[in-house]
Amino acid sequence: MPQPQPTIAVVTGGAGFIGSHTVDQCLARGMRVRVIDNLSGGRLANLAQHRDEPGLTVEERDIRSYQPGDPLFRDADYVFHFAGIGDLVPSIERPLEYMSVNVQGTVHMLECARHAGSVKKFVYAASSSCYGLAEVPTAEEHPIRPEHPYALSKNLGEQACFHWRKVYRLPLNSIRIFNAYGTRSRTSGAYGAVFGVFLKQKLAGKPFTVVGDGSQTRDFLYVTDVARAFVMAAETPLAGRIWNVGAGNPQSVNRLVELLGGEVVYVPKRPGEPDCTWADIARITADLGWKPQVSFEEGVANVVANIDYWRDAPLWDPESIARSTASWFAYLGGQ
Ligand SMILES: NC(=O)c1ccc[n+]([C@@H]2O[C@H](COP(=O)([O-])OP(=O)(O)OC[C@H]3O[C@@H](n4cnc5c(N)ncnc54)[C@H](O)[C@@H]3O)[C@@H](O)[C@H]2O)c1
Repeated sequence: MPQPQPTIAVVTGGAGFIGSHTVDQCLARGMRVRVIDNLSGGRLANLAQHRDEPGLTVEERDIRSYQPGDPLFRDADYVFHFAGIGDLVPSIERPLEYMSVNVQGTVHMLECARHAGSVKKFVYAASSSCYGLAEVPTAEEHPIRPEHPYALSKNLGEQACFHWRKVYRLPLNSIRIFNAYGTRSRTSGAYGAVFGVFLKQKLAGKPFTVVGDGSQTRDFLYVTDVARAFVMAAETPLAGRIWNVGAGNPQSVNRLVELLGGEVVYVPKRPGEPDCTWADIARITADLGWKPQVSFEEGVANVVANIDYWRDAPLWDPESIARSTASWFAYLGGQ
C-alpha cells in the first residue's frame, strides 16, 4: 500500500514570533515544514526546540529573492505568509522598505505559490491596523483607513492576495491579527509593542513607560491562539475569506501594568493610534469554530515565566522614546 504523503507547509517568517508558534503547531500535526526567514527580526533560537526534527528545514533568505519555480515551494500544500516588517513606528521614516518587503515580498510569495501548482491554501497575516481609528467592536466590513505606512503596506499585501485569487484563482484566506502577545515576541531595536517594552523595563527594575494615561485598551490575543487560527484557516475547505482574530475582550494598558507590577512614568499619546482596539470575532467563530482559549491573566503569567527571553531587548525610557517617535509626531501630529 502506498503511504499517504505528509502535508507540506511553507512558513515565511517562521523564525519570528507568530511564525515560530505556527511551525510548532504544524509539526505537531505531522506536517513537514519549510521555513523561509532572513532573520532580520526573527531568531533561529525560536525554532531551537525542533533542532532534531527531520520534518523541519530552514532557508535563511529574503522573500524577495524567490522566483516562481523555486524548489522550496515544490509540492507545497499550504503557505503561511508571516514574513514582513512588523514594527509600526519606523514605517513613518522608511516607507520604501515597508512597501518593498510587505507588498512586493508578498507578491513574490504569491507568484511562487501559484507556480507550484500544488498549493491548497495560502494564508496571509494581515493587520487590524487597516481599520485605522475604527468604530468598535470592529467587524471585517469596517472601512479601510490606514493611518501610517505600516498599515498601508499590510493592506496592500492583502489586496495583492485577493488579486491573485481573482486573476489566478489561488485559494487563500487572510487573517487580520489584532494585538498578538506571548513568548518569543519581537525584541528588535525598534520602539513598539507594549509587551516587549514593559518586560525589559521590568527586568531592569525601571518604570513602565505608559502611553497617555494607560486607560487605552487593546485586544490582546495570546500567540498560540493566533497560530491555531492560521492552521484552521489553511485546513478549512473555505477560501476567499477575511477573518478578524482577536480575543474580543480588550484590556487596558493599566490592567497590564497591574498584572506585571511596578512603577510607571507617562509618555505622550501618539496621534493616529486608536484608544481602543476590539475585534468582532463572530465571523471566524461561525465559519471555523475558532475561539480564544488562553485568558489574559494566563497569557501574561506565561510571558512573565519566560521573562529572561527579553534580557537582550532594548531598554526604553521617556527620552529615548521621544527621540524615536519624533518623526511620527511631526508627520501625524498636525492632522
Ligand atoms: N504581532 C502582531 O500583533 C501582529 C499584528 C498584525 C499583523 N501582524 C503580522 O504578522 C506577521 C508576523 O508578525 P510577528 O509579530 O510574528 O513579527 P516578527 O518580526 O516576529 O516576524 C516576522 C518574521 O519575518 C522575517 N522577515 C522580515 N523581513 C523578511 C524578508 N524580507 N525575508 C524573509 N524574512 C523576513 C523576520 O526575520 C521575522 O522572523 C507580520 O507580517 C506582521 O505584520 C502581526
